[in-house]
Amino acid sequence: MSPIICVKVEKRSGETAIRILKNHNMINPEYRVYSDKEYVYIPINEKTNKEELKSILDKHKINFQIVLCNPPEKEKRIQLKHVPSYDLLGDTIIVRKNVLENISLYELIYTLRKLNPRIKAIYMKHETIDSYRLPKLELVWGEPVEEVIVKEYGLRFKILLGKVYYNKRLSEEHRRIAYLCKDGEVVMDLFSGIGGFAIHIASLRKSIVFANDLNPYAYQCILDNISLNKKFLKGIIIPMKINALFFTELKPLHGLFDRLIANLPHSSLEFKRVYDVLLKNKGILHLYVVSKNPDEVVRILRKWDNYVLMGYRRVLDYAPYTFIYRFDLLKK
Ligand SMILES: C[S@@+](CC[C@H](N)C(=O)[O-])C[C@H]1O[C@@H](n2cnc3c(N)ncnc32)[C@H](O)[C@@H]1O
Repeated sequence: MSPIICVKVEKRSGETAIRILKNHNMINPEYRVYSDKEYVYIPINEKTNKEELKSILDKHKINFQIVLCNPPEKEKRIQLKHVPSYDLLGDTIIVRKNVLENISLYELIYTLRKLNPRIKAIYMKHETIDSYRLPKLELVWGEPVEEVIVKEYGLRFKILLGKVYYNKRLSEEHRRIAYLCKDGEVVMDLFSGIGGFAIHIASLRKSIVFANDLNPYAYQCILDNISLNKKFLKGIIIPMKINALFFTELKPLHGLFDRLIANLPHSSLEFKRVYDVLLKNKGILHLYVVSKNPDEVVRILRKWDNYVLMGYRRVLDYAPYTFIYRFDLLKK
């Protein structure tokens, strides 16, 4: 930073000099007044007329010198911008890339840090990729964070950032499904991610819940999340790590389940054979499907003649005019 012009006055005249210079609009607003043991240094506007300044201070009998100084810069005040939905996961923020259409990266970081002074990192989320539904995360501020702990209804979940699927907005759905379950049920979450549905269910019901996910990191999180919540669990959770398609081969599990949860919205309709073999008669299937038009999905499900469609509801926004729906089906 190059030096700027300051008025240097003895400490005892500091307050008066500041007041007078302020009244004459001569203080440079971009810098702070500072002092050492004996003197106060008042940063002066570049355009200030030195003769005028001199005559004003002389008139008030203030001893002063005009010097070059290096005052600290004031933090620039930026108006806080609206940041459309972002996720605060522990002390980490994840924000979607499209927010940059309306706000600069600098404004984004400034606003998020002002609103959340304790955060350690801000990540930009690019598209969700591959069958593990992994977010591609780019660190835009702070130190890299490997894992975070988030809370849902008092339960704690470990998430390995960028290595597992997690969506905070599903927490209500986890709870809703858990309330639908009854004591004694045997439940399977075929695509369980870090175990959200399973842990909510086992925390409310004396049930047996299988939590399966093909992603080894998600499987590790399920194990850790069972330990993290063990004192709240009434039911038993059995973690598994297989491709759900192979349940068709696992005969001991066939016909065992009162309830299946199939939250793989882009391809859940392709696993019908799996649902057929795992579910008991009168068992319930919660099927999640991404769609612009739920009527189209209803038309497909009406052709599943071994099931009765009991209803459906919108669960999440996915993209403009596109939502994730849950369809509830009863096996005949
Ligand atoms: C949308 S996420 C599930 C989210 C989870 N139900 C929750 O509430 O957080 C889908 C999960 O399915 C897993 N997955 C994808 N294909 C699979 C397959 N064929 N068999 C088992 N798991 C699979 C992915 O690894 C991912 O964790």
